[in-house]
Formats: sequence, C-alpha cells, structure tokens
Amino acid sequence: MSAEFVTVILAAGQGTRMKSALPKVMHKLAGLPMYAHIVEAALRAGAHDVVLVVGHARAEVERDVVARFDRRVTTAVQEQQLGTGDAVRAGVMGLTSFEGYVVILYGDTPLVHEGLISALMTSASDSGKKAVVLTSEIADPTGYGRILRDAEGKVLGIREHKDASSEERAVREINCGAYAFEASFLRDALSKLLTNNAQGELYITDVVGQAAALDSVTAVRWNFDDVGGVNDRAQLAVCEATLRLRIAERFAQRGVTIRHLATTYIDAHVEIEPDAVLEANVHLRGQTKLAAGAHVDTGCVLNNVTVARGAYLKPYTVATDSTIGEDVETGPFAHLRPESVLEAKSKIGNFVEMKKTRLGRGSKASHLSYLGDGQIGENVNIGAGTIFCNYDGVNKHVTTIEDNAFIGSDSQLIAPVRIGEGAYVGTGSTINRDVPSGALAVSRARQENKEGYAAKLAARFKALKAAKAAK
Ligand code: UD1
Ligand code: CA
Repeated sequence: MSAEFVTVILAAGQGTRMKSALPKVMHKLAGLPMYAHIVEAALRAGAHDVVLVVGHARAEVERDVVARFDRRVTTAVQEQQLGTGDAVRAGVMGLTSFEGYVVILYGDTPLVHEGLISALMTSASDSGKKAVVLTSEIADPTGYGRILRDAEGKVLGIREHKDASSEERAVREINCGAYAFEASFLRDALSKLLTNNAQGELYITDVVGQAAALDSVTAVRWNFDDVGGVNDRAQLAVCEATLRLRIAERFAQRGVTIRHLATTYIDAHVEIEPDAVLEANVHLRGQTKLAAGAHVDTGCVLNNVTVARGAYLKPYTVATDSTIGEDVETGPFAHLRPESVLEAKSKIGNFVEMKKTRLGRGSKASHLSYLGDGQIGENVNIGAGTIFCNYDGVNKHVTTIEDNAFIGSDSQLIAPVRIGEGAYVGTGSTINRDVPSGALAVSRARQENKEGYAAKLAARFKALKAAKAAK
C-alpha cells in the first residue's frame, strides 16, 4: 500500500494551438473531455483528493466538472496563466496541512492511466525521495522539456525546449509531465520559483531541479504512448486513435469478439459483457451497455443504448437513448430515436423509425414505418408503410395499440387513437377514431372496376400525345 496522495491536474491554459473556441481540456476523446480521462485515472488510482486547476474559460470547465464528478473533484482557480509552477501554486493553495504526496498531472495528457499514477506513487514510497518524475526516450523530442543528467546519469533538472542550448536539444529523454512531490517540500519549492526563462513563466519543472540539488529525485522511465501531450488537433487525433485501440483491446481480452479493432469505436464508459460480438465499423457511444450474446453488425451507431442478451442488430441500426430487449432483431437500416423500447422478441425491419415508442413482446414492424409516441402491446403486427400521425402541428399525441391487433399495410393512425385488443385495421386505412376490441376497421374508398375501360383510356392518351407533338 503506497502513501496517501492528492492529485492536482493543470487545466487552466487556453490551448492556443488547438485553434478552437472550446477550451483545450474540453475537447473530447472516446466520448469524454480530455481532462475527465485524467480525473478518472486519479480516482481509480485512489487519490485522496483531486484538484483541477482552471482558468481559461473556467465557467465552462467548472460546469462540466460539477455535472460529471459532483463533489468528488474540487476546482482551484489560476487567475492568470503565469506558467505551470504558478498553476500548481493555485492547486495546492487549499492543501496547506496535507502531508502525503502531491501527484501532478497535466490536463492535456489524456492517455495517463491508473497504472501510471500507481507507479509514480510506488516509486515515491519505495525511494523516499522528495520528487519522482516520469521520463521517456523519443525520436523527436521537439517541444518537450529535456531531462538533464550528469556524467553518472544522475538527474540534474529539466530544461524546456525554448530554453535549451542546441546540445541540450539533442537530448532525447523528455519530461512526460507527471510527477509526485512530497507535499511540504513542494510548498517550499514553489515559493522559490523564478521567471528567469525564455517564456517569463514559473515552471513546475524547476521544482525537479530543486529536488535534484538535494539529491532527492527519482526518474522513472515510462512508455511514451501513455503520456503523449495534446497541443493541437493532429495530436488529439493521434491520442484518440491510441485510446480507442486500448479500449477495444481491453474488451477483446475480456472475451468480446471484435471483428476489426481499427474500425471499432467504443467510448470510455461503454459496458460490454463477454461473448457479445461486434462486427467491423461499429460505434458504441455514451453509456451504451451490451449484454452477453448481443450481436451488433456492421455500421451500427448506438448512443446510450441498452441491448439485452441475444439481440441481433443488423447492419446500420442507428439508435439513441433506447432499450433493446432479449432476442430482439432490428434493421438493416432501422432508426431508434430517444425513449424507444423494444420488448423481448420484438422486431423492426428496414426503414422503420421509432421515437418515444414501446413495442411489446413479440410484436413486429418489418418494413417502412414511422412509429412515434406509440404504446404497442404484445404480438401486434404492424404492416409495411404504417405511419403514426403523432403531430398535429402544435402537439404530439399518443397512438395505443393493444395486444394481438393487426394493422394492415399502408395505414395511417391519426393520434390520439386507440386500437383495441385483437382488432384488425384494413390495408390502406386512415384511422382517426378508436377501434373497439375485436373490430375490423376499414376506411378506404370502395373499389370500382370499369370493364373494358383501359383501351378507351389508352386511345384518349394517344390522341392527346399526337396533339401535343403537332404543336
Ligand atoms: C510541459 C512541460 C514540459 C513537458 C510537457 C509534457 C512545463 C514548464 N513544461 O510543456 O517539460 O515536456 O509539458 O507534455 O511544465 N497550464 C496551466 N496554467 C499555466 C500554464 C499551463 O494550467 O499557466 C496547464 C495547461 O492547461 C496544460 C498544462 O498545464 O494542461 C501544460 O502546459 P503546456 O503549456 O501545454 O506545457 P508544455 O509546453 O506542453
Ligand atoms: Ca502540453
């Protein structure tokens, strides 16, 4: 068990290089804002407290923090962005009596995970040093702070790219931007920071230099894949690709069949049970949950959708905020808009759109329908081309269909309307009055056959065409 620690995450900068109206840390990867990935990693690693330092567009970031984390995360304000050292000062302001370690992370390194934070803390506890810093050796260290070491390899400090001599720039070991500092040492070191550097800022990296002067630094080598920083949108895309692959591989390890890792997009909070199957090109977003044996075919996009055991979502099922029951079949090309519920063994086929509608157990709408604001019972058959006319231009109304009813193809049900149990609506009907249980409702015009009339019509059309050509 390692020592108690708090985590301070720096997220006050504007992120100019993102060229965005959105603050940098609010840009999303795998469905979560950048900063939230780091907060979650810290919480999972067991941080006693998580403090997010905010500044630029702070109201927007704070609103998001409250919505996602409530009181598990506090924010500290850095009024002016005077550098990472100044940001840490703001972050530890409320921790005057804390005596454990302070883990410092940057809000723009979204691949940081629980294991990395635990490694920092284990190293801190084991070494007893005042500072632990993560480093990586990379081919192109441009832009990163360089780790300076003496002839014996002992860490001397960190030099920012902008302050580095050409000799120092040749160093390929970089500062990952993840540290653990003993709290009291950190408070003292922060008070000694100076702005004598190329950017005129207070650098947290200089705290590592202060610990080095006391011979109290441990550098831990880490894989760069976990610490890539996001300074522009090209780096955002690279980090998202890494994160996405990491998530898909994790599910594959747990027994989910993933046909094609590279085109499977699974958001950070999605849950999938073993033996679910994902074909290529599937997007699972938000809080989507798939039970064992659910089969999601190619091109499906599910956002906050719960899918029960044995359901088969055929290609190009698009669903949002909906519930899909056991052994249900959808698609191909089905569209579930919010608050749609498909009870067990029900089925919707191609080009069926549902919205705020419940389709009861065993009921079917197999082709070309719009089912909006509907309450549909069990074993109902909804024929091809049925439309629930739910909107009168001002209000939405409910269509109710009781168990075992049959709706003939190409019918329009003008809501509010109720089709009673076991009732039968004749094909091509426009229904605007309730249909009693067991009744047959037909509202189309009666068919008339005019014997021999087709030839007369043909002759008339021919004459009309000739007259038009003569003009
Ligand atoms: C920083 C490190 C560098 C390291 C790199 C790793 C410093 C001085 N440099 O450089 O050694 O290799 O990260 O990714 O720390 N921030 C604030 N307030 C400020 C300034 C920054 O909250 O006044 C926040 C930013 O929002 C960002 C983080 O601190 O999330 C890092 O700042 P950034 O300007 O991106 O630092 P780098 O130049 O990348
Ligand atoms: Ca950065």
